[in-house]
Order: sequence, then C-alpha cells, then structure tokens
Amino acid sequence: MTELTESLKVLVADLVVFKFKAHGYHWNVEGKDFSEYHALFENIYVDADGSIDLFAENIRKLGDYAPYKISRVLQLSTLPESDVTSNAQTMTSDLLQSNDMLIAKLKQAFNVANGENEQGVANFIAERIDMHQKWSWQLRASLHA
Ligand SMILES: [Fe+2]
Repeated sequence: MTELTESLKVLVADLVVFKFKAHGYHWNVEGKDFSEYHALFENIYVDADGSIDLFAENIRKLGDYAPYKISRVLQLSTLPESDVTSNAQTMTSDLLQSNDMLIAKLKQAFNVANGENEQGVANFIAERIDMHQKWSWQLRASLHA
C-alpha cells in the first residue's frame, strides 16, 4: 500500500459515483434540448465507465487490490451525490462541479505518481486529466451565460 495506490482507490470510487451520476442524468434529463443533453451525458458516462477498469488495473499492477464493494466505494468516494431529478442546467452545473473535483484529484494523483517514479501510471493519469478537461469545456459550454 502506497500513497499512489490509495489515491487510485479514491479515484476508482469517485469515478463510480461520477459515472452513475452522469448515467442517471442521461436517463432522467428533460427539456427542449433533451437530445443534446442526453447525448452529452452518455458520452461522459461511457468514457468514465471505461476508465474505471484501467484505474483498477493500475492498482493491481502496483501490487494492491482494487475496491469493488459498493459499500467500500461509497466509503472512499469524495464526490457529493445529487437529488436533481430532471433539470438539464442544474444537472450540467452539478456534473461540471464534480468533474472539476475529479480533475483536482487527478492532478494530485499525477504528482504522487511522479513522486513515486511511476511514469506509466503518471502518463495514464495525464491522459485522463486531458479527457476530463474536455468534459469540463463541453459541460461549461452547455450552460447558459
Ligand atoms: Fe441510454
């Protein structure tokens, strides 16, 4: 167990919560721009879902075990849950806030990976930062000025 594997475990948990939030927003969004939000939330949850496996496998590569119990995931996660039922703008700003929290966590983990001289993991995290920055741009651009 290292600081890096601990950071990666929290990221797995945060991404499970983030993925489920984006997926739930994809299901429940309503309004005149339904199709655009439905599709944007889908792009985000599909990407986040795919990344969870890679975070978990990096934990295994570093010799530790990946969290998989829902109770453990909820214990580890630092992202706020949400009670938004249907409003597209509220969902978008909430998901943007969670996404920005994830970026901050990813940047911390990137520094930890470099500190532990784990360049492969650092490269993987750098790619994930890039992707979440794209989601921040697209979510922010979807909010009315
Ligand atoms: Fe769907």
